[in-house]
Amino acid sequence: MSNKFVLVVFLCFTINLFANGHVIRHDNINDLFISPINFDLKDTKLGDNITYYSYHIHVYFLQKNENQTNEATLLRNRFLNEFNVDDCNDDCGTWCPRICHWELNMDPIGPHPIGSWGIYLPLEQFTQAVSFISMYHGNLTVLVHPNSGRPKIDHLLNGFWIKTPVPLDGDQLSDSEPIPPHRI
Ligand SMILES: *[C@@H]1O[C@H](CO)[C@@H](O)[C@H](O)[C@H]1NC(C)=O
Ligand SMILES: *[C@@H]1O[C@H](CO)[C@@H](O)[C@H](O)[C@H]1NC(C)=O
Ligand SMILES: *[C@@H]1O[C@H](CO)[C@@H](O)[C@H](O)[C@H]1NC(C)=O
Repeated sequence: MSNKFVLVVFLCFTINLFANGHVIRHDNINDLFISPINFDLKDTKLGDNITYYSYHIHVYFLQKNENQTNEATLLRNRFLNEFNVDDCNDDCGTWCPRICHWELNMDPIGPHPIGSWGIYLPLEQFTQAVSFISMYHGNLTVLVHPNSGRPKIDHLLNGFWIKTPVPLDGDQLSDSEPIPPHRI
């Protein structure tokens, strides 16, 4: 077998896996902003269906280090500009109508042990926003986590990191929170 053949088989397999593994449902045009991704991997160990309604992006910086704080602020301004992001006027735990940002945190807050800023990210903008962060994160650590209505699991287990993870305070995260009411 040539290496090329092996590569083609591998690519077909991978593409197939992604195509079958992630089903984005658009049940109703009014639900466009939610379009949950359901993972039903037929694995009995999973025990239940997890629905991802949205994601959050958290960018961390050592708030007493001037260079890091500047870098984090620059990245934040760049991101807000690029995606035309408004203030979140709700807590946007699981769901909000559109991409939005929270205040720049110059102190630890909730589960976040150092300076941070955050974005509420609808599924529809996941690829663009995460690609942007992946390209321009520079020296900063970033957490991207899904929102399934189970903050503790979403942050501690199912999130993923760019650079060096920071220890989150799990005691500040609840086991469950309301999911979008019109989905129940
Ligand atoms: C997941 O959801 C589907 C569709 O609602 C249902 O048929 C299935 O039984 C669920 N699986 C589990 C493990 O709950
Ligand atoms: C900040 O950056 C400058 C220039 O690169 C460097 O000289 C300085 O040591 C840095 N300060 C910290 C606290 O990292
Ligand atoms: C990352 O840190 C290095 C060393 O402090 C600095 O020279 C560089 O400019 C930083 N990168 C960005 C994107 O700020």
